[in-house]
Amino acid sequence: MSQLEQEIKKRRTFAIISHPDAGKTTLTEKFLLYGGAINLAGSVKGRKAAKHAVSDWMEIEKERGISVTSSVMQFNYQGYCINILDTPGHQDFSEDTYRTLMAADSAVMVIDGSKGVEAQTIKLFKVCVMRGIPIFTFINKMDREANDPFELIDEIENVLGIRTCPVNWPIGSGKNFKGVYDRQTKTISRFFAGDNGHKVATEDVELGSKKLDELIGEVNHQKLLEEIELLDGAADEYDLERIQAGKLSPVFFGSALTNFGVETFLQHFLDMTTTPLPRKSDEGEISPFSEDFSAFVFKIQANMNKAHRDRIAFMRICSGKFDAGMEVYHVQGGKKIRLTQPQQMMADERHHVTEAYAGDIIGVFDPGIFSIGDTLCTSNHKFQYEGIPTFAPEHFAKVRQVDTMKRKQFIKGIEQIAQEGAIQIFQEYNTGMEEIIVGVVGVLQFDVLKFRLENEYNVEIRLEPLPYEHIRWITNKEVDVASLSVTSDTKKIKDLKGNPLLIFAHPWSIKTVEERNEGLQLSEFGTN
Ligand code: G4P
Repeated sequence: MSQLEQEIKKRRTFAIISHPDAGKTTLTEKFLLYGGAINLAGSVKGRKAAKHAVSDWMEIEKERGISVTSSVMQFNYQGYCINILDTPGHQDFSEDTYRTLMAADSAVMVIDGSKGVEAQTIKLFKVCVMRGIPIFTFINKMDREANDPFELIDEIENVLGIRTCPVNWPIGSGKNFKGVYDRQTKTISRFFAGDNGHKVATEDVELGSKKLDELIGEVNHQKLLEEIELLDGAADEYDLERIQAGKLSPVFFGSALTNFGVETFLQHFLDMTTTPLPRKSDEGEISPFSEDFSAFVFKIQANMNKAHRDRIAFMRICSGKFDAGMEVYHVQGGKKIRLTQPQQMMADERHHVTEAYAGDIIGVFDPGIFSIGDTLCTSNHKFQYEGIPTFAPEHFAKVRQVDTMKRKQFIKGIEQIAQEGAIQIFQEYNTGMEEIIVGVVGVLQFDVLKFRLENEYNVEIRLEPLPYEHIRWITNKEVDVASLSVTSDTKKIKDLKGNPLLIFAHPWSIKTVEERNEGLQLSEFGTN
């Protein structure tokens, strides 16, 4: 095996997703602990005091205790090189999360055992199912009173539309949490409350044996026997092929806070996940093992560090090897460029990377040339990766700067934030930049916009919400937009590239407008 192949085969790149507060940050921190990437043992409690977790960056996140941006962490564990893509947990940041999912090969879904599948982020999980991304489920907080485990897995199956296969099974929960039974190894891992999970006893005991009675109590033992029998009869069988195709989700029960079940989860997970997968391009699938370097940009973020006032483009390497300072071809820009200051991130700390391989994520300094979805490759093998879909904004507001003298900063700030893809900006159809309309997928983005403009660009703005909720781009070029007959709740606007579009307050107006204007073609998606 060549060195390139060896390095790529070690890579595992996954996104970690959850409902807010389900324990994603805690679980991530424990993963990192196993890799020795951070020295945080037992410090999860102290984390809230410090107001932010390892992977949280921005001021607004710290203030509100939510995760706004996605970040990337890398660590080594048992011969694997693992890349974790953290995703925003709040529903309003789902667009950013969708993009992050495009850069991952699998996803770990964290669910709070006392809450089950929570409504607000169902959409997010469904994207994984739709894209066939393998999903590994960690049902967390078993040290607290949890819902019935059968109900929990039923819910995942029904609500998310994916079959499940429990790898381990909980013995009680909350005060009566005794541990988990591993269905593959047929062993019991016992949970000792109050010990912070450091002492985990794994014992080979037979179901039905006297010894098990002693270890977990007769009542728990009897219940476990019945439940395992039921599971063996009713649950889907373990099938690696179906897991890797995203059709079957292995389920694990544990408690991230007490570090119970985290390492076994990690080990099983690494056994079951794939090495970096081939990616679709206009030349067909590109193998990660190709000698030629290629990558695509899935996220752009400005001002991650206020002291630096910089912009970073995050890219997923899809094939070959990256060397620092290497000259690559930027397909959308039609130019050769040198990728300067490549970095890997760990919260505020940045590590300069000298080499990286397919599966890895690097952040490179962006002088303003990249857009989300751009491809980078070598000059002797040019092609383009499939684009990343943009999601239709559902909330709109008119935005004005309070101090008219700050026009320049205002335009610069709002354009940069739009390039990152957090917001979309539009103008009135007939006018220039004097009237700016902002469209977002989730309303919280308005607050983020306001906050960031004030903090990073020193511009105060006023937002005036608009009643529109539906957007359609006009796709046939020959249409005379000015003479289109529209309803009173429709507004004609244009995007930054000058493409005309319509926004509607009510969904039925879309149909009416189509009927009134024969031949008019409307599309929900703009072009990136
Ligand atoms: P998130 O990133 O998914 O939003 O969740 P996060 O890890 O921040 O965890 C949310 C809360 O749940 C935290 O408590 C955390 O300590 C707690 N938690 C996480 N895993 C477990 C677990 O396995 N068992 C129990 N009992 N709790 C867990 P908090 O009160 O918000 O913060 P803190 O003051 O405890 O740090």
